[in-house]
Amino acid sequence: MSTSLPGPWSYLLDEARAYPSPHNSQPIAVRVRDAGRAELFYDLERGLPAENFGKPFGNVCAGVYLESLATVAAGHGWSVSADLRYEDLDFGATARHQPLGTVSLEPSEITPQAQAGLAAFRRRRTSRRPYRNLPVDPAVLSEVGAIAAAAGHEFGRTDRRELVDRIVRINQETLFDDLRNDAVHAEIMAWIRTSDRAAEATRDGLSARTLLLPGPLLGFALRHRGMWDLPLAGPLLRRIYLNTMRGVRELGWLTGPFGSAAEHVTAGRVFLRAWLAFTRAGVHLHPFGTVITNPRSHVAFTEAAGVTEDAGRTAWMLFRYGHSAAPPEALRRALPEMLLDRDGVTSWGR
Ligand SMILES: Cc1cc2nc3c(=O)[nH]c(=O)nc-3n(C[C@H](O)[C@H](O)[C@H](O)COP(=O)(O)O)c2cc1C
Repeated sequence: MSTSLPGPWSYLLDEARAYPSPHNSQPIAVRVRDAGRAELFYDLERGLPAENFGKPFGNVCAGVYLESLATVAAGHGWSVSADLRYEDLDFGATARHQPLGTVSLEPSEITPQAQAGLAAFRRRRTSRRPYRNLPVDPAVLSEVGAIAAAAGHEFGRTDRRELVDRIVRINQETLFDDLRNDAVHAEIMAWIRTSDRAAEATRDGLSARTLLLPGPLLGFALRHRGMWDLPLAGPLLRRIYLNTMRGVRELGWLTGPFGSAAEHVTAGRVFLRAWLAFTRAGVHLHPFGTVITNPRSHVAFTEAAGVTEDAGRTAWMLFRYGHSAAPPEALRRALPEMLLDRDGVTSWGR
């Protein structure tokens, strides 16, 4: 399947496909207008409306994509400017693809920073592996603090053993709690791939391999969610899951303005910038986004960490970071799958 797009779009969009998205649902679609312009869309069928922060996190993901595209483009000698609509996602809309706005390309110099950014983008992966229990270079922590501050956000962190353990436990309980919610459970089931074959078939979603859990056990446990509350099976499943969290010694979070669609997009851009700073320093990251989106866990986390939220500031991201072995790769759909043609919603090259 060949995709021939005007200008540099073919290779820029092809690389930007590696952007991270919640549940690896890959919701961004693109319609190329000409050699220098393209329109971005959010594919509402790939959104996560059941979650409490489903709408804000949709625009966070748009910001993550925009920053990914800008990072890829900069490494190839292009700067990206965006003219966005900044609207909340409308999951009740009849049209499947909600327009996000337009991006334009201008030639730019390839700086060493741009090259380093692209190299980090190519290496970046979520690591749900056990971590090595080694400290993280304080220089990268300062860098992440500066990235957040430059956009009016704050990077908080802890390496207090007791607090780390407590929040890791809150993250684990979040999964159990989410599974009790029928709508969220159905949404998780739609994105879980319990075998390599299932992951290859769709090239999206959360594969058992990337979750580091045995596929058949994962499938069985998710289909029989009552099991989690049984006296023997419940603790066993908790132990298997918590085992993947061995060696975690530090947790980080991002707080800041998170009230409007524009702020959600900015948050996404900040998150990817921070993630790439960690990656450049050889540090892996694992977002605990569901702790943020699950209302009960959100309160439990902010109270435990002593994070104060008010009208202008929300704790909108939480993650573990540290050193680990290389994590498994999460697959991506082919480029034509995310391209819209000029007239409507069908993909190029299909
Ligand atoms: C906004 C956001 C929230 C996320 N939340 C979670 C989460 O709660 N738990 C988790 O295991 N991974 C989470 N992830 C990681 C994605 O599942 C991951 O990026 C995706 O599966 C693709 O894998 P990759 O990052 O290795 O390329 C999140 C990613 C993003 C961008």
